[in-house]
Amino acid sequence: MSLVGLCSAHGSPGVTTVAVTLAATWPEPRRCLLVEADSSGGVIAARYGLGDTPGLSSLAATARRGFADDEVWRHAQQLPGGLPVLVGPASADEAQVVLRDVAGALVGWAAGRDEVDVIVDCGRIWPGSPTLPLVTGVDVVLVVVRPSVDQLRPASHRLAALEASGVEARLLLVGDRPYGPGEVASTLGVDVAGVIAFDPRTAAVLTGARGAVGDLRRTPLVRSAATLAEHLAAAAPTSDREEDPASEGRTVGEREVVEGVQR
Ligand SMILES: Nc1ncnc2c1ncn2[C@@H]1O[C@H](COP(=O)(O)OP(=O)(O)OP(=O)(O)O)[C@@H](O)[C@H]1O
Ligand SMILES: [Mg+2]
Repeated sequence: MSLVGLCSAHGSPGVTTVAVTLAATWPEPRRCLLVEADSSGGVIAARYGLGDTPGLSSLAATARRGFADDEVWRHAQQLPGGLPVLVGPASADEAQVVLRDVAGALVGWAAGRDEVDVIVDCGRIWPGSPTLPLVTGVDVVLVVVRPSVDQLRPASHRLAALEASGVEARLLLVGDRPYGPGEVASTLGVDVAGVIAFDPRTAAVLTGARGAVGDLRRTPLVRSAATLAEHLAAAAPTSDREEDPASEGRTVGEREVVEGVQR
């Protein structure tokens, strides 16, 4: 089981886009669940034409004290192509209440599931954020940031605060200009998990705007997410990982959201 949290410290660097793409390209045969836990309100249902329910709200309403084995799956919807997702409430007011109710139980549920990896879009976090119990419970937190001075400064402060609370945290760059991962790591003294390609055309398609990019799987954004997914999945603390030689080199993205979005 691997529980990967993605968040931002400032601005809108592309957390949701990375979370969706990472989950969609997570390597088989692992089962991956995407959770939208953004306390500012969720956007995935709107972007992918899903209903507001079921999702985190309905899960919280039925299971405040912990989840039965299949409870979470009953509240998941599917992104185009089949990726299971727990959508967050669109309202920030509701999201904050729901996250306070559900964050701890969700971490507990994921910790007991060797067969599933969970990618969580934690949105922007701040001191006292209702998402913090979730953020501090994950295996690794990636603070997504555009590598510009104005975004890197708050992101590195957030990273330090997360590390001080015992969380394994790294920066994840969206693009490598003006500063690349080596320069960011050495100048700020931080771990950089990787770079997601700065790819506005593909991001526009994935965020529901109009446009077309041909084969989504070959785009810089999706390819960079697939590379990161492979690294993260390989590092997952899983005791019973099953190797399936037939699926070597294939990713969920080859059959899931990256296909479905283009239909
Ligand atoms: N890899 C990328 N390259 C270029 N543009 C991107 C990339 N990822 C996202 N974007 C663009 O950035 C904007 C925000 O994307 P997204 O909603 O994923 O960010 P976010 O950090 O989740 O924002 P929020 O804080 O509102 O939740 C969108 O216009 C999207 O098209
Ligand atoms: Mg977002």
